[in-house]
Amino acid sequence: MSKKYPPISGKLPVFMHGADYNPDQWLDSPEVLEEDIRLMKLAHCNVMAVGIFAWSAIEPEEGRFEFGWLDAVLDRFAANGIYAWLATPSGARPAWMSETYPEVLRVGGNRVRNLHGARHNHCFTSPVYREKVAIMNRKLAERYANHPAIIGWHISNEYGGECHCDYCQDAFRGWLQRKYGSMEALNKAWWATFWSHTYTSWSQVESPSPQGENGVHGMNLDWKRFVTDQTVDFCKAEIAPLREYNKELPVTANMMDLFEGLDYWKFADVLDVISWDAYPTWHEHGDDGKLAAWFSMNHDIFRSLKGGQPFMLMESTPSLTNWQGVSKLKRPGMHKLSSLQAVAHGSDTVQYFQWRKSRGSSEKFHGAVVDHVGHEHTRVFRDVAELGETLGKLSDVIGTSVPAEAAVIFDWENRWAVKDAQGPRNMGIHYEETVLQHYRALWEQGVPVDVVSMDADFSKYKLVVAPMLYMVRPGVGERIEAFVSNGGTFVGTYWSGVVDENDLCYLGGFPGPLRKTLGIWAEEAEGLYNHDRNGISLVEGNALGMSGTFESHELCELVHLEGAEALGAYTDDFYAGRPALTVNKLGDGRAYYLATRAREPFYDAFYGAIVAEAGVARVVEAELPAGVTAQLRTDGERDYVFLLNFSGREQAVTLDGRDYSDAVTGEKVDDTITIATNGVKVLRRTRGE
Ligand code: GLA
Ligand code: ZN
Repeated sequence: MSKKYPPISGKLPVFMHGADYNPDQWLDSPEVLEEDIRLMKLAHCNVMAVGIFAWSAIEPEEGRFEFGWLDAVLDRFAANGIYAWLATPSGARPAWMSETYPEVLRVGGNRVRNLHGARHNHCFTSPVYREKVAIMNRKLAERYANHPAIIGWHISNEYGGECHCDYCQDAFRGWLQRKYGSMEALNKAWWATFWSHTYTSWSQVESPSPQGENGVHGMNLDWKRFVTDQTVDFCKAEIAPLREYNKELPVTANMMDLFEGLDYWKFADVLDVISWDAYPTWHEHGDDGKLAAWFSMNHDIFRSLKGGQPFMLMESTPSLTNWQGVSKLKRPGMHKLSSLQAVAHGSDTVQYFQWRKSRGSSEKFHGAVVDHVGHEHTRVFRDVAELGETLGKLSDVIGTSVPAEAAVIFDWENRWAVKDAQGPRNMGIHYEETVLQHYRALWEQGVPVDVVSMDADFSKYKLVVAPMLYMVRPGVGERIEAFVSNGGTFVGTYWSGVVDENDLCYLGGFPGPLRKTLGIWAEEAEGLYNHDRNGISLVEGNALGMSGTFESHELCELVHLEGAEALGAYTDDFYAGRPALTVNKLGDGRAYYLATRAREPFYDAFYGAIVAEAGVARVVEAELPAGVTAQLRTDGERDYVFLLNFSGREQAVTLDGRDYSDAVTGEKVDDTITIATNGVKVLRRTRGE
């Protein structure tokens, strides 16, 4: 658990700090490129992601390759101690290609082919596109895979989207044939007898469409799985030629915050390092706690994708975005705070989009390290340079791990299914928000958390939380049962154990494969209107030591005790007195069930009790003000404690009496420390005192 990983690149065993660099936008201004090198050094930047959208500059016409400009950029980097993640440019392509080969253009669910333009607008099956990408990637690898400035490959950009062209339809049918083997098996999995949707030949099957089939849940699920598999396959095809020239160079593909369209768990084995792009909209409310928890949860997922291995913050903005509804500047302190938030959760890099602001087109007002003014005398540049200096003093943190004893399950297939289900609350089933509600209560207490899929190995945790585990894939119920029997603490909620991997309901009583572990039968589930309320009244003298009543809303279940004991009862309606919160003792462990969607502050109280009861370690055994979290990285001997203040005001935290020093300055710190508004402290202590 407390492992020290090798640095992402042996060539640069310190924090990577830098930005997306698009010199292809400035080729007619060589003085700008020369100036960039001076500024990069001033900003304490040591890495750039280069060429992400450079296809037109590299191959201005079919078969004519221009590498001179890229040679010059990379050689200048090498001469100046700056490193590069070299991108494959497949995220956008030149107009000549779309004109000559219209098949590279994506076709929508409505079966209309897109025009050329924008980006991320390619068919991932098209043989021509795959061939063009392979040629490009091979040429890049041949020329640069052993260039001294290159430390890895940045594959494409933010993969996403789907294509419904004829190639993709064929590929989908082939995928289904391989999965099901026979029409009978497919019809059964899709419950095709409903509305007479039985297929009698593979050729009848088409991808979901707004003007065609879109209500067969098993099919929708399979289509989403296919889109992920096809994208992973495209990604693998991109990587293959790169590996031929240098097997050592790590590959990454930048991801987006909980992007719904792709099951990111499926990329874990294909990529050497996970990277992602974080764009929080800070300062909408005085208190950024909830938003911070959401981004922390994302960081925890991206770290968990490769079993805890440090990841990369590939993009973030040094100031503001320009594509969100409102683009606010980062208030003083926030740049360091949100950058070190990523580090606290396991990032070994802090990188931005982009280095130099574009002069034109759709992102010309997006924050960049170098503004249109063109010099270093700006607030943003100073923030970046200062952070670069700080990171330079934290090199010991590189490769350290996050020792999580708690896991929260966030599962893409479950998410797809629960949102497509047409169940008790189609006006908002709120899967992501629900997971966040549970996660946030742990975050507020400063509990390190892994965010995992239902396929994870639970045995290394003391606590596993599975909010709305509507889908339970084969074997998962058994593994949760074993986890609890062996002494683990499990928390499940309403609307769990409802369907199998094909979105077919479990027969014989919900929560299906979790019924025995939870010791309850959920007889009926209902949605409530937004204005409806119910509540949970804690049973006097309950084992968790909780008291009082808490409001609940949106979803309620009528459950029967089958071995479990009620800790709380419903307060209202014909539900009154029936179990609303239960615990079942199984073997050496406990399984809790929350039958209704409680409102705050239930979760703080509940997880306060659960963490104590399950013996889950908090980063500091101290009271943390709301909106302030503590996160931990360790190499097994030294702990790095990050105190992050998202509360929107200055806070004092009294630590737990252990010896702490400031990891940046080396100075010893008092037991009570003040953290400024949008402030962060990185402390060091000896592990296991
Ligand atoms: C994404 C993209 C970048 C850029 C930024 C702007 O993350 O990958 O190319 O468009 O957003 O925030
Ligand atoms: Zn296609």
